[in-house]
Amino acid sequence: MSYFAACGRGFEPVLAEELRALGARDLEERRGGVAFAGDKSLGYASCLWLRSAIRVQEQIFRRPCQGPDALYDAVRDVDWSRFLDLRRTLAVDASVRDSEVTHSGYAALTVKDAIVDQFRHRTGDRPSVDTESPDVPLKLVLKRDEALLYRDLAGESLHKRGWRPIQVKSPLNEATAASILLLSGWDRRSPLADPMCGSGTFPIEAALLAADRAPGLRRSFAFERWPDFDPALWSSARADAQRRARTRLGFAVEGADRHPGAVNLAKKGAEAAGVGNLVKFDLADAKDWIPSTTPAVVFTNPPYGERLGEGEDLVDSWKALGNFLHRCPGAAAFVLSGNAELTKYLGLRASRKWVVMNGQIECRVLKYEMFKRD
Ligand SMILES: C[S@@+](CC[C@H](N)C(=O)[O-])C[C@H]1O[C@@H](n2cnc3c(N)ncnc32)[C@H](O)[C@@H]1O
Repeated sequence: MSYFAACGRGFEPVLAEELRALGARDLEERRGGVAFAGDKSLGYASCLWLRSAIRVQEQIFRRPCQGPDALYDAVRDVDWSRFLDLRRTLAVDASVRDSEVTHSGYAALTVKDAIVDQFRHRTGDRPSVDTESPDVPLKLVLKRDEALLYRDLAGESLHKRGWRPIQVKSPLNEATAASILLLSGWDRRSPLADPMCGSGTFPIEAALLAADRAPGLRRSFAFERWPDFDPALWSSARADAQRRARTRLGFAVEGADRHPGAVNLAKKGAEAAGVGNLVKFDLADAKDWIPSTTPAVVFTNPPYGERLGEGEDLVDSWKALGNFLHRCPGAAAFVLSGNAELTKYLGLRASRKWVVMNGQIECRVLKYEMFKRD
């Protein structure tokens, strides 16, 4: 089967590496994701194990389609009884670029009509649309009059691991945090700290990664409601993941934040993720925080203005981070920054940079190597 996994821009090589490790074939990095080939069990494993992906889609067809009639006919040519029945719901999402059909809503409607008409023709009845939580979420990509139609295996975005207790004001997306951890080359056995951990995404995702816990074990997926769902295959993949999960780490994973509410959320999140015993959170200002172990790696995303408070307060935060890092001799620090001006207040020179998207904001992941004192 042909698949496409989507990720945040800038993280495509990380996703490709994750897919390689799962045994995916014919990998092709594209903008915002990776196309690959494999069997049904790889599709399930992708949802269960991929940390950097936000979606995994199975290709239904790829065909030239110039205009709405050609699109309608292409969709009607598919035998939809393989993918849907009258008890199951569907939804179609479309994106359109440089094509005769210019409106994505119209393209999605055309696909939906072709499917529904096939059912009506064959059975006299039609499946319903459910835009909130469809059993079969479909995605159409129409680009230069070539149509790619996919079914989305996950449904809800894969960054939703099922551990975040409530949606917080400016959290770091779980998939973005995991992607940065993977991008950094962290060895998964050296002490890690985040001095501005907010809701704790870096420490929690780091603990899940180091403990070899599958990020998808605590949620359900759309494919579990598909007519061709293989429950035996799925339960064996889950059982294998449960067996692999380690219950201890031989090193510290820690976080701190100056806001009591954030620390509270981080602790709740860690409990919900099942790593409450593997991570430690303190209430502290970064300029004073002393983790229990000097960290070998620091991952953090200080406030940079687009989302939290502005101005002086931000400058103080970056100075406090600089202060913290100077107290971590020998550490490598990976800082996600969306504001080059503020970054200067760290008073450090980056040894490496990656351009990545954090939601809609273009950011840099900056690596700093803190010198060891003799
Ligand atoms: C962009 S948020 C981090 C989001 C976080 N990565 C998450 O997963 O939710 C920045 C955090 O830095 C914290 N912060 C700002 N200045 C601080 C300081 N001087 N010491 C400790 N925490 C600070 C804020 O309270 C906020 O939670």
